[in-house]
Amino acid sequence: MTNRQARSAEFGAVLRGAREKAGLTQEQLAGLSTVSIRAIRDLERGRVVRPRKDTVRLLADAMRLGDTGRAALELAADSASVGKALHDVYSPELACPPMPVHTLFGRELELRALADLLGGERERLVTVVGLPGVGKSRLAQEAALQVHRRGDIPVLWLPMDGAGRTPEQAVHRPRTALANWVRPLVSEGGRYDELASFIADRPTLLVLDGHEVTPATSPALTYLLHSCRRLRILLTSRRPHHLSGGRLLPLAPLPAVPAPGPPPISGPAAMPPLPGDSLSARRPAVELMLSYVSHLRPDLLLTDSVIAVVAEICEALDGIPQALEAATSWLLLYSLEQLREMARESPLALVDGAPPLTLGGATPLGELLAAVRAGLPDRQADLLAAMAPPASSWTVDDVAGALGVPAARAAQDVHALLLHGLIRQFPAEPGGAGGPGRFAVLRLVRDLVLVGRRSDEDEAPRLLATGAA
Ligand SMILES: Nc1ncnc2c1ncn2[C@@H]1O[C@H](COP(=O)(O)OP(=O)(O)OP(=O)(O)O)[C@@H](O)[C@H]1O
Ligand SMILES: [Mg+2]
Repeated sequence: MTNRQARSAEFGAVLRGAREKAGLTQEQLAGLSTVSIRAIRDLERGRVVRPRKDTVRLLADAMRLGDTGRAALELAADSASVGKALHDVYSPELACPPMPVHTLFGRELELRALADLLGGERERLVTVVGLPGVGKSRLAQEAALQVHRRGDIPVLWLPMDGAGRTPEQAVHRPRTALANWVRPLVSEGGRYDELASFIADRPTLLVLDGHEVTPATSPALTYLLHSCRRLRILLTSRRPHHLSGGRLLPLAPLPAVPAPGPPPISGPAAMPPLPGDSLSARRPAVELMLSYVSHLRPDLLLTDSVIAVVAEICEALDGIPQALEAATSWLLLYSLEQLREMARESPLALVDGAPPLTLGGATPLGELLAAVRAGLPDRQADLLAAMAPPASSWTVDDVAGALGVPAARAAQDVHALLLHGLIRQFPAEPGGAGGPGRFAVLRLVRDLVLVGRRSDEDEAPRLLATGAA
């Protein structure tokens, strides 16, 4: 890719970001700026090589950009960030994924599986799939680091979920500019040959983090893999999509109850146990939440009883890291015991109403879960609605009975919901007789279904009263 093309692609992304932020359609912007709609379209798609200074000024005026936004747009028209970012990938210090800030808890098996898949020759396209906030990006980051370190492989890490789409970020972070260029290529189809000829035969790990697959995705990725024989691609996605030739790796929440297996090592080689160690051992969800708790409330002594309450909260929140983080933020206001009650009463309300701890604040988990549920095909949505209310676990035959469908069809839908991460499977009893698999809807998802139902009921009389029903 030439710097000129890179420049225009980046400008397009910045322009689109600024226009959307201003709440304008392309037509409205054209009307306000007197720049033709065709020119605006070409600029946003990166077809125009270099926007003229006057055009940039007219557009900035029409969008009423403030000083920063205006500077960002002007810089984007003038910078070579994308080209630079691509060259940096193969510079002597090969590009690596973003460095993790916090420790990774648990995930030993998943990490080994993923790093082996990507480090070997056989799997070149892997998608980590799971619920929002379950830890897909965090796992991908760790696996990419291992692949990078073991094989001296550069990692081209691209946030696909729009993180850093604001003009300011795009200008000051070449990697963001690069993501802005690649994102529409992979999602909407386009000139992959430029990217492919740049990567060529160099070993590379391309990570598309937070990618929602579109019809254009599969051909784009197949083309890249064909053209670049030493390229591997790792995607993280909230929805399971079968990409041709790819492998799916479903990611479950962190265990909140001890995983079945041998007891932790003891004896002379083992470290002396710390208070509470035995209570949090082999429960990564509990260890993670304890780390959040001790950061936020260093005054809280992690006694056995504190750990026991934290463990109950983790269970009530299904061991989903983002939920644990959100719930912990309430500790500035409530006691752990109060949090436990809230988590038992309505886990969704607890995590949704939580004040964000991080700057910028993530979208509330309930909203993200609702979006996943809304995207389900009818059959799977019906299954979820039917099997959410029972608090106890159920089998595929129970589903078939409840919905009046053949067991084979019920099994297909249970499988699909497992891939989404909306339901979980109970581990088989060690030495058990291998009875039918038992499943349950995650507590947060159950709450989502039940809350929806309660508000529908509230709604009904009003609709009836107005005659709208
Ligand atoms: N095993 C873990 N150990 C420590 N922290 C974790 C772990 N898993 C997830 N986290 C933290 O939990 C938060 C959510 O994780 P992450 O962003 O990876 O979720 P995600 O599945 O990628 O979500 P989304 O679908 O919204 O992209 C992050 O702050 C992440 O660092
Ligand atoms: Mg993610």
